[in-house]
Amino acid sequence: MLAKTPPMGWNSWNTFAENISEELLMETADAMVETGLRDAGYEYVVIDDCWSLRERGKDGRIVADPAKFPHGMKYLADYIHGKGLKFGMYSCAGTRTCAGYPSSFDHEFEDAKMFAQFGVDFLKYDFCNKPRRADGPNLYHRMGLALKSSGREILFSACNWGSDKVEEWIRSTGAQMYRSTGDITDNFRSMSDIAKSQMNKLAFSAQGCYNDIDMLVVGMHNRGNVATGGMTDDEYLFHFALWCAMQSPLMIGCDIRDMSDATLRTLTHPELIRINQDAEARPLFPLGGGKIGDDFIGFKHLEGNEFLLCFFNFGERERTQEADFFDIGLPVASGKGLALRDIITGGDIGVKSDYMRVPVPGHGFRMYRGKLVDL
Ligand code: GLA
Repeated sequence: MLAKTPPMGWNSWNTFAENISEELLMETADAMVETGLRDAGYEYVVIDDCWSLRERGKDGRIVADPAKFPHGMKYLADYIHGKGLKFGMYSCAGTRTCAGYPSSFDHEFEDAKMFAQFGVDFLKYDFCNKPRRADGPNLYHRMGLALKSSGREILFSACNWGSDKVEEWIRSTGAQMYRSTGDITDNFRSMSDIAKSQMNKLAFSAQGCYNDIDMLVVGMHNRGNVATGGMTDDEYLFHFALWCAMQSPLMIGCDIRDMSDATLRTLTHPELIRINQDAEARPLFPLGGGKIGDDFIGFKHLEGNEFLLCFFNFGERERTQEADFFDIGLPVASGKGLALRDIITGGDIGVKSDYMRVPVPGHGFRMYRGKLVDL
């Protein structure tokens, strides 16, 4: 089964947009291995939009741009596979991709077959330029079946930005992940608006098909295609922790050939990745009656009878947040508490019951992993 846990990898779009090439992809695959990202769980190396010529060839096939990919896609796939990684590509459900390149509308089955021949393991499938008479969900059903009939196991990464109430039907198309929002850009506001918009929809995200709140901007520092101001390293850690708690796929968007130590530490944080990849794949439950403001407290069941309690402060000033254990199903009458460990500092904080008050810095968070114990 694909996507037992949220897929992890790298995608070219956030930093490089149309400036992609065989060389970039090969160097990125090398960097995945050399930096330890592969060993931390990152697996897919994905080319986004702008990889082909502007028109299909005479035989009707999409043609890889020979200036960008002189040895063709099979060569690149073999190289990436040789590094113990998987290869991802991109197409779109409409008549042209978002950047205006040939796209798979009415070519779904032949394109899927071609991707399989290339050795593709992952297809991101966008939603620009859909003919008005075509039904959005139906186009994802088409590509879902086309991939299944392609002769190769290919992870289907749907990207319709949350249109047509995507969470209600996308799992039935065979997709393993689905973009639920518009595009992220590299600043705190964009990142947090995207996350907040999905916090009440996480129950749809589970084993086999995950809510994808977009590629990470961790470590971009205002460089590249989606630069809009950048964030501090602490804010990038907040962003990563949030994506992990919300169980989003983790697709790196920065240039991993040129990362700071802080960026690498964030992207490979073992305890955060362990939460993201938790085998139970239960949704994060927002406390506070579903209202998502600057204070956000979430609770989540983890494998091995463990639990996650997390506090996120989207505001700029420090705020004291209070989790009432009644709201997580642990009233005083239960006689139970939670023995908690801070997953960032590693420190044991003892047993908490009834409630927990935590000062949380502006644009900061606290995350605790724990077990149920008798008081
Ligand atoms: C859309 C997607 C992005 C990216 C671009 C490429 O905007 O949401 O993630 O794939 O298209 O043109």
